[in-house]
Amino acid sequence: MTLSSAPGKVYLFGEHAVVYGEPAVPCAIERRARVGVEQRSDGKLRVHAEDLSLDGFTVEYGGDTNDRPDVDVAENLVDAAMGYVDGAIEQVRDATGEPEVGFDVTIESDIPLGAGLGSSAAVVVAAIDAATRELGVTLEREEIADRAFRTEYDVQDGQASRADTFCSAVGGAVRVEGEDCRAIEAPDLPIVVGFDGGAGDTGALVAGVRALREEYDFAADTVEAIGDVVRNGEKALAAGDLEELGRLMDFNHGLLSALDVSARTLDTMVWAARDAGAYGAKLTGAGGGGCIVALDPTEATETALKFTPGCEDAFRAALAEDGVKRLE
Ligand code: PMV
Repeated sequence: MTLSSAPGKVYLFGEHAVVYGEPAVPCAIERRARVGVEQRSDGKLRVHAEDLSLDGFTVEYGGDTNDRPDVDVAENLVDAAMGYVDGAIEQVRDATGEPEVGFDVTIESDIPLGAGLGSSAAVVVAAIDAATRELGVTLEREEIADRAFRTEYDVQDGQASRADTFCSAVGGAVRVEGEDCRAIEAPDLPIVVGFDGGAGDTGALVAGVRALREEYDFAADTVEAIGDVVRNGEKALAAGDLEELGRLMDFNHGLLSALDVSARTLDTMVWAARDAGAYGAKLTGAGGGGCIVALDPTEATETALKFTPGCEDAFRAALAEDGVKRLE
């Protein structure tokens, strides 16, 4: 078996606006998806998943019509998860020149699904790395990132930036602006995550911002204003100025609210973090539900979040220096 892991991420700045060419700064965190892969001789794909914030499931199919899974979890979640794994394996077949190859795939993840922490990107990145290596091909991180992006782009009907997949593949803090993706220097940030136990529908939220932007000039201006916050954020990050970073994260959250992608639970957690003395706090990812990210070197924010109605889990998340890791 060949085993790889890849980290989830938080957006320090720039989600949604990145879809329209503004820069974004995501940062990889030490919450990982691990994907184990073993080649099969019959060309089929069998996927076993655990801990995906839903019941574990096993799916066996060969791409034929009647080969659908019989499992005890919501069909749309299985379909979504399978879409990503399928797409990743298609990339592997293409990269290795083995169009008929099949695999047993085992997925374990401690990144909540669809909650703004890049769970799908981490699974796709780890799957592409493990399955190509299983066939004796080792891809550069940049190529893994690119192939993982293409997978997300297809599964999400073209509603994907390169931010999640690049960040998960290379680790650390990164800057993404259109096609231009690069690693940037970042101090060890005191990241605290609050999770409301829910998930947002990324496709619907991205489509909502697109519609708003077409209807109202203020929304187009808001997207540009987020870009301005991101550029200031980059300077604060380079200077290691946590106070300024937090202040800019607060502004970024306000602008995301103006684009109608926040939620009461997210706003409540953001305010709980600020009241607890965090440098700043904002939603992370598509919004609608899921996670917030705050900066606080003390225990206060994590403790406050644990007592906040609507917050299901709060945890400290170290910056992940490594992106995809080759474990076996
Ligand atoms: O919620 P996530 O982790 O899938 O992040 C979505 C980020 C968006 O900017 C809204 C979309 C994208 O692909 O960049």
